[in-house]
Amino acid sequence: MHYFSYKGRDFFCEETKVCSIAQKFGTPLYVYSKRTIFRHFHKIKEAFASINPLICYSVKANSNLSILNTLVREGAGLDIVSGGELFRAKKVNCPPQRVVYASVGKTDEEIKDAIKYGILLFNVESLGELAQINKIAGQLSENVDVTLRINPDIEPKTHKYITTGRKETKFGMDINTARKVFLKRGDFRFLKIRGVHIHIGSQITQSSPFIKAIKKVKGLIDDIKKEGINLKYFNIGGGLGIVYDKEKPQTAKVFADRVLPLLKAISLKTILEPGRFIVGNAGILITKVLYVKDTPSKKFIIVDAGMNDLLRPSLYEAYHRIVPLDRKPKTKDRRPKKADVVGPICESGDFLGKGRKLDVEKGDYLAVLGAGAYGFSMSSNYNSRRLTGEVLVDADKVYCIRERQNYSDLISKECIVT
Ligand code: LLP
Repeated sequence: MHYFSYKGRDFFCEETKVCSIAQKFGTPLYVYSKRTIFRHFHKIKEAFASINPLICYSVKANSNLSILNTLVREGAGLDIVSGGELFRAKKVNCPPQRVVYASVGKTDEEIKDAIKYGILLFNVESLGELAQINKIAGQLSENVDVTLRINPDIEPKTHKYITTGRKETKFGMDINTARKVFLKRGDFRFLKIRGVHIHIGSQITQSSPFIKAIKKVKGLIDDIKKEGINLKYFNIGGGLGIVYDKEKPQTAKVFADRVLPLLKAISLKTILEPGRFIVGNAGILITKVLYVKDTPSKKFIIVDAGMNDLLRPSLYEAYHRIVPLDRKPKTKDRRPKKADVVGPICESGDFLGKGRKLDVEKGDYLAVLGAGAYGFSMSSNYNSRRLTGEVLVDADKVYCIRERQNYSDLISKECIVT
């Protein structure tokens, strides 16, 4: 069951014709399916039901308040990485005891604000950070729960920029350092070190790297327990891959079936931090064809969305399917030639897809699929382009959940000095 599909010639999101959304709200525009978000959240919840984990949706994947609110009302917690994401968590009234905070570079202000809000725990990534949170907790006369983020040095078999659990990456601490910290936990008077955290990467399509990482960390957890140290949480991060093209990622159920025996043996409260799995395929970016440019060497479909709106193809050479909102009937004389779908930005790296067979002309609309995660949230004002709008579809209803920026927004914090 897909909530994005054709009915006849027209591309639909749930029960709404996407073309009518494009006409009403303009393009470029992000369109999200509420039912898909629900469905993916519940897939994870059900797959792990036997251990009742805390599922903290990873805000960075898509931080729109309506999406956060939808998930929080469904019982999700939030995985945050900045003061800005904490601000969003507060705005949707996420219960503080469902908020976990990772990031290698938490500032004093961010740490203070999170302690004051009463978050469940910090995922601590270094010795310096541990000392700093301890100091700030002392100043505020608070006891603060933390878990140590472990870098298990495991190859997750994904793009190098989204590999986070190899020893040469900046994330977490190695197992030996973590072991020493547990043994010297008394040095941190205001901290309770309650468990361990791992997040080995993103868009991971197989379960084996997760299993390897969990097994490696289980050794550490067993040793710590033997020392008589009481642990409460095991946070296994996010990272579940989705289908963009021809990948065959593990389903939530297959993933759970493989990791549950290990998690049950470890017997701590499991925390999960899925981002992409929940929202990735719940969103599309719609865009309009501005020009079709046929050069002697190549054909280009020039559209009104660019790398500032969706950075993934440019940054990771990520593949996103691109489909027309109006699927024209195939005829013998219409043989679309392969074309690069490119944006208006002044960079050769500004493309949404390369070598695509699309039968389109000026004024047609296209949908870039799988754009719900790390789409809008990574967008920018580059080339002084306005951030796009976002809409949420619920069956046949369409809600504007972010207005497109206007030109005044672009300069609202600037001033001219002479
Ligand atoms: N937990 C932590 C600590 C993370 O750093 C991340 C993602 C997640 C959870 C969620 O991972 P997910 O379930 O979404 O894979 N911009 C890249 C992805 C960067 C992921 C960063 N960390 C992309 O567009 O592919």
